[in-house]
Amino acid sequence: MRNRAIVTSALPYSNGEIHIGHVASTYLPADVTTRFLKQKGVDAYYICASDDYGTPILIQSEKEGKSPEDYVAFWNKRDYEDFSAFNIDFDFFYKTSSPENNEFVQYVFKKLQDAGHIYESEIIQFYCNNDKKFLPDRYVLGTCPYCKAEDQYSDLCEQCGRVPEEIDNPKCSICGQTPVKEKTKHYFYKLKNFSDKLYKWLDENQNLQKDVKKYVQNWIKSGLIDWDITRDISWGVPIPLDEAKGKVLYGWFDNHLAYISSAIKFLNDKGIDGKEFWNSADIYHFIGKDIVYHHFLFLPAMRLGIGEEYKLPDYIPTRGHLTLESKKISKSRNWYIGLKEFLEYYPTDYLRFYLVSINPYSQDDLNFDWDQFATKINSELIGNLGNFVNRALGFTQKSFDGKIPKPDAFDDADKESEQKIKTLADDIGKLMEQNHLDRALKKILEFTAHFNQYFQHKEPWKNGPGTNSCVFLSVNAVRSLAIALYSFLPESSQKIWSQLGLDGNVSKQSWDSISEIVLVENHKLGSSSPLFAKVEDVDIKKYKQKLGTKN
Ligand code: MF3
Ligand code: ZN
Repeated sequence: MRNRAIVTSALPYSNGEIHIGHVASTYLPADVTTRFLKQKGVDAYYICASDDYGTPILIQSEKEGKSPEDYVAFWNKRDYEDFSAFNIDFDFFYKTSSPENNEFVQYVFKKLQDAGHIYESEIIQFYCNNDKKFLPDRYVLGTCPYCKAEDQYSDLCEQCGRVPEEIDNPKCSICGQTPVKEKTKHYFYKLKNFSDKLYKWLDENQNLQKDVKKYVQNWIKSGLIDWDITRDISWGVPIPLDEAKGKVLYGWFDNHLAYISSAIKFLNDKGIDGKEFWNSADIYHFIGKDIVYHHFLFLPAMRLGIGEEYKLPDYIPTRGHLTLESKKISKSRNWYIGLKEFLEYYPTDYLRFYLVSINPYSQDDLNFDWDQFATKINSELIGNLGNFVNRALGFTQKSFDGKIPKPDAFDDADKESEQKIKTLADDIGKLMEQNHLDRALKKILEFTAHFNQYFQHKEPWKNGPGTNSCVFLSVNAVRSLAIALYSFLPESSQKIWSQLGLDGNVSKQSWDSISEIVLVENHKLGSSSPLFAKVEDVDIKKYKQKLGTKN
């Protein structure tokens, strides 16, 4: 682990609302990780931006009678508000259509061209005679030539994850007619030339998930094809060549470059040398598995193409998709929960807790299940974790006037509990460093379960010998818990911190201090109150019924 880090998560298209599926696979894991890195003392920044360019956004802005600029400005702001309400704590949220990114993208294009990695070629492009338009990407639907899945957009097969060279049975997605073919001049990136270098990079990078690596390497073995980076539309970064008037660069050429251009702007504005920082930091790109192709091939190939002026990623944590009650999330079928809507039902920490706990560090899909949500919140978050905090602090309030007593000599059970505190920082920290956020959270729950048992076993309410040690260690365990919990549940952990009577912000406590026993005799607690309210079955029923119905 380096002492600097830049963390990004896949840039959301400025084309609609953030829903619970988005945050589960990408934004939440990245947020938890960045908070953790900061606690570890790493100089870490979480950078994101809205993904503004491209065909679908242009189509939608046209439908709404807005300029694409106004259209994306609306979603940029709205997405940022929704993320903030969920405590996704970006250090900087910018946009791919920024002047800095436009300039950087053109610079990269020229540099790649000078290095001989780009060539032009007259191609045949689908054209709709009815709509009088060239039809790139989402303007065409058809059958994937690799896996034969039907109804796929021409720029990405959702079934097999590949980007087809030419889709079979093409249909215009606006009017449904079969398009004709017309000639147009396009620019191509020589992806093929990078096959060996990409293969080697994948081999050597020990931080990438093994299974993803394997299938990307299989794609390389079966032969990469050069990449068409031109679009005959008006909304995008203009190709910086006189002979390419009216043509723009493909959205997937410019969008990931905004990881760099946004980070550099943010750092430079802070008075830090952005490029130097980037090249001496651990680079994390959090993504969902649908964009593996772009992040494991296009992105590194472009960074290689500009001579690694900006270093390649160290980590590309890739996670599966969220289904909702075991079905694919779909806005049009209202099988869907917007992030904003969810946060009207329950506190942010409930959703953070649940989504982390069901989300392994793998490509497996995960499922949002309302009943499971209720059970996990009620039994794990409230019954186990919240219960321990309430018990330890409540009992100290009631029986010791809110003051920590002087501990007695430790017996075996005390020593065991003391040991749990001393090993907690390392136990959880290791899992966090390996991206196993779900397992780290589970360890926290094991810790509080242990202390619940310990408290039960010691029966401090009988005020027998050993009571003081039990209270002393339990309150210190609550302090450890607050710090360990911070990256997952920032609001609740700060509440616990205040209830402990501690000043300042829990986020400022160092990770390693989790395992220190810091609170001493006579320390006065703040006032206690329950941290969480139970999830009620009647509400869950109601939310389940809303799914799939028109509103
Ligand atoms: N907007 C893309 C999507 O939602 C992700 C862009 S990630 C970046 O699939 F790498 F291109 F920035
Ligand atoms: Zn048409």
